[in-house]
Amino acid sequence: MSGHNVWTHKGTFLLAAVGSAVGLGNLWRFPYLTGENGGGAFILVYAVTIFAVGIPILIAEIMLGRASRQSPIMGMRHLTKTHNTSRAWETIGWLGAVSAFLILSFYSVIAGWAIHYTWLMLTGSLVGADAQAISDGFDALLASPGLLTLYHTLFIIASGLIVGMGIHRGIESGLRIIMPALFAILLLVLAYSVMHGDIAAAASFLFTFNLAELSLEGWLQAVGQSFFTLSLGMGAIMAYGAYMSSTASLTRTAIAVAAVDTAVAMVAGLAIFSLVFGAGLETGQGPGLMFVTLPLAFAEMPLGGLVGGVFFILVLGAAISSSISLIEPVAAFLVERFDMTRPQAVTLMVIASWALGLLTVVSFNIYAEGTIFHTLFGRSAFDFIELLTNIFMPLGGILIALFAGWALTHSEVMKEMRTNETWFSIWRFLVRFIAPAAVAFVFLRTIPQVDGYLIPAIGAVLLVGAFAAGRTFLMENSQEK
Ligand code: PHE
Repeated sequence: MSGHNVWTHKGTFLLAAVGSAVGLGNLWRFPYLTGENGGGAFILVYAVTIFAVGIPILIAEIMLGRASRQSPIMGMRHLTKTHNTSRAWETIGWLGAVSAFLILSFYSVIAGWAIHYTWLMLTGSLVGADAQAISDGFDALLASPGLLTLYHTLFIIASGLIVGMGIHRGIESGLRIIMPALFAILLLVLAYSVMHGDIAAAASFLFTFNLAELSLEGWLQAVGQSFFTLSLGMGAIMAYGAYMSSTASLTRTAIAVAAVDTAVAMVAGLAIFSLVFGAGLETGQGPGLMFVTLPLAFAEMPLGGLVGGVFFILVLGAAISSSISLIEPVAAFLVERFDMTRPQAVTLMVIASWALGLLTVVSFNIYAEGTIFHTLFGRSAFDFIELLTNIFMPLGGILIALFAGWALTHSEVMKEMRTNETWFSIWRFLVRFIAPAAVAFVFLRTIPQVDGYLIPAIGAVLLVGAFAAGRTFLMENSQEK
């Protein structure tokens, strides 16, 4: 068994998990999806999913990591042996590794845009620019495969360097600098947006809801987003959990991660929409919300260049503290399984993900439309990879919930959770039934409309999951009791 590493301090897991959770998902994706989906109704589905489904699965995922003290794939392999369950459960680890690899590929490209905008803002290039100029500028960035590749490369190398230095000298030390700075900057930007924007309009946009307004794809996006923002269902949290101190409280930590993550999304949403409404701009811009609408708002405001620059530094810091958690599970697996050195493992993961990222790069220009990819999959490579992760993460989440709920024994869970019987029963009920059913419900409702041909694939994975769960259950009952 791998000589197991543990974070230096009891609280480091919390820091690392918050670093993973808070990222482009909160600052870029959440606001633009909310804007596209008309505000409140989207947030309602998102928030309910976080609390009813996200937190129990978060607890389950940390538990699997800490109980196995290995990388997700090897950890699941170990747990399937010690629990005498089907090897099929290893799917959790593999699904996670694949999702991490897919997410990192586009995450790094988008984070790269923030490098560009930090530069533009701090050099004052956008000060006083009008809407046309700013949106032309964004289009020009997207039209340039060279520039996009350059930024993508810089960002992914920076992330790789941190992980390559190891969990103590790299990840922990990095997070200790990045995270406090993030919270300070976020508050600064909020204060600025209260002074110069229209915070009341932002609040009413975010917190008035009409569920009937939410489209089917909106439902899927809301559920996908709640998994994405909590970094759930793909091994990042499990990998960090493997290093968690045995004495830190699982439940409290999980609730804290979800609360901080949601608070950051709300604050970012308020700040961004306050600036957008204050400048009289549109909310439904899509992915360009942060890169067109927001710079435009900053361009017209006092000290906009400086505050805008600081804002994009915040985006970069949040992105890098998340991207390192995408590299860690795969890197740790390569080290454990193939005896690679950490730098070798990180290099391999980063190069592979970088190469896949080139597909996202060209989705915005050379292969924007009308190519074979569009004909085959009905969308760009970037949209396709994103859709896959929107499905894989909740799917991984269901499997994690089922395994933790059915395969782990009462005493094991109690040892990890150290809680009373009532909380234990509530949690177990949520992961055994509610979380899987809720996610399955949304899948069944939305995916046929969104993408007919994916159903057989998902159905198959669900069947494997159900089969494995059933077998585990039978074995457990025939042996223990
Ligand atoms: N949670 C991160 C964000 O919101 C994204 C992420 C997903 C990171 C999955 C790690 C794993 O930006």
